[in-house]
Amino acid sequence: MKVLVVGGGAREHALVRVGLEHGHSVECAPGNAGIARDARVHPSVKASDVDAIVALCERERYELVVVGPEASLVLGLADRLRAMGVAVFGPGSAGAQLEGSKSFAKEFMAKNAVVTAGFRVFDRADEAIAYVRSAGRPLVVKADGLAAGKGVVVASTADEAVDAVENMMVRRAFGAAGDRIVIEECLTGPEVSLHVLCDGSRFVVLGAAQDHKRVGDGDTGPNTGGMGAYGPVAAFDAAMQAQAIERVVERTVRGLARESLDFRGVLFIGLMLHEGVAHALEYNVRFGDPECAVLMARAKGDVFATLFDVATGQLDAAKAPSFEGAALAVVIAAERYPADPVTGDEIFGLDEAAAVEGVAVLHAGTREDHGAIVSNGGRVLTVTARGETLREASDRAYRAVRCVRMRGGHYRNDIGWRSIR
Ligand code: AMP
Ligand code: GLY
Repeated sequence: MKVLVVGGGAREHALVRVGLEHGHSVECAPGNAGIARDARVHPSVKASDVDAIVALCERERYELVVVGPEASLVLGLADRLRAMGVAVFGPGSAGAQLEGSKSFAKEFMAKNAVVTAGFRVFDRADEAIAYVRSAGRPLVVKADGLAAGKGVVVASTADEAVDAVENMMVRRAFGAAGDRIVIEECLTGPEVSLHVLCDGSRFVVLGAAQDHKRVGDGDTGPNTGGMGAYGPVAAFDAAMQAQAIERVVERTVRGLARESLDFRGVLFIGLMLHEGVAHALEYNVRFGDPECAVLMARAKGDVFATLFDVATGQLDAAKAPSFEGAALAVVIAAERYPADPVTGDEIFGLDEAAAVEGVAVLHAGTREDHGAIVSNGGRVLTVTARGETLREASDRAYRAVRCVRMRGGHYRNDIGWRSIR
């Protein structure tokens, strides 16, 4: 198939690689320096520029378009392409509201009995503050709209919660995205990223991965987009998966069908295993990054054939890929990431790293500069390894990571620590 992957991070690099492995003709917009070494890229076509992607698709006549990031889905990219008769992996703007609006997602969960934290929605700061003051327990304050992963504050005291409300609703730190907020009960427990393909009525569970959101070892320091991931996850055993399917996934997919949301893509459900019960924290309408690297490294079978089946509403569990062995991904980030990443540093040792058995060096924020590869974003590379076991995947990934040299580059040393025996 002739396929376009939309996006330019390690998630898209992982998707491009699995497509190429199975003989598809894969292109990417905009791509990055690593993707450009594997496939034809369209660097001037930005992932969030719906008109430019539509124009590219009119010209190139792709048989399948796989959309990586959420922003263009929320803006209606999939609706525009479907109206042209293009098969698209990714929901239309109505389904993308599951990620685009936290209040929409929570109300959807409540209506469909999806297990989640108790919550209230507020459109007025004074009412939210009065609620926080009277609650007397830890709360989580969330901006309703997309806030680049920064719109969630886990507040252990009322003062912290009030501060978060004021920051979002009064100081408008996230603009219109914070004019409505969700305040919810604070849960505790391990988190997993469960990925489920859905074609509107049927679903197939791809499996879970665990992300590491804090920048430093031992889950210290500020939150990031994700510093590494691995799978399978020990805490998410077969019994937990069965429970999550019954109480979260099936109810979600039934709800989608009932509300005619015609969701054709991947649901990445952020779960918290609170007191032994899987609770849905949030929906995302795209693959996680770095989780996607882990899933693709473990996949056996033609993933793109299944993404096409999803896009065309004919998902067949019997033909879906299986997931075997283990995989682990380590993100190499730029100096001063996440606060203020430095870019433009040359990266050395990429070929040595890629030569380690079972390793794929996926590019995120990179660009080419006079033949050299230089950093071009906060998360620069996602070094991913597969193995029979997580221990083997971890040994391989870190052996490859140590081959890479970049001024100021940093990574976590403990990816997978919760599950590696
Ligand atoms: P979200 O974008 O909704 O997934 O929130 C980002 C992060 O905030 C999650 O990965 C959790 O670590 C944390 N979080 C969100 N909701 C809750 C909650 N109800 N209780 C505890 N932590 C939460
Ligand atoms: N790794 C978390 C995300 O993709 O949202």
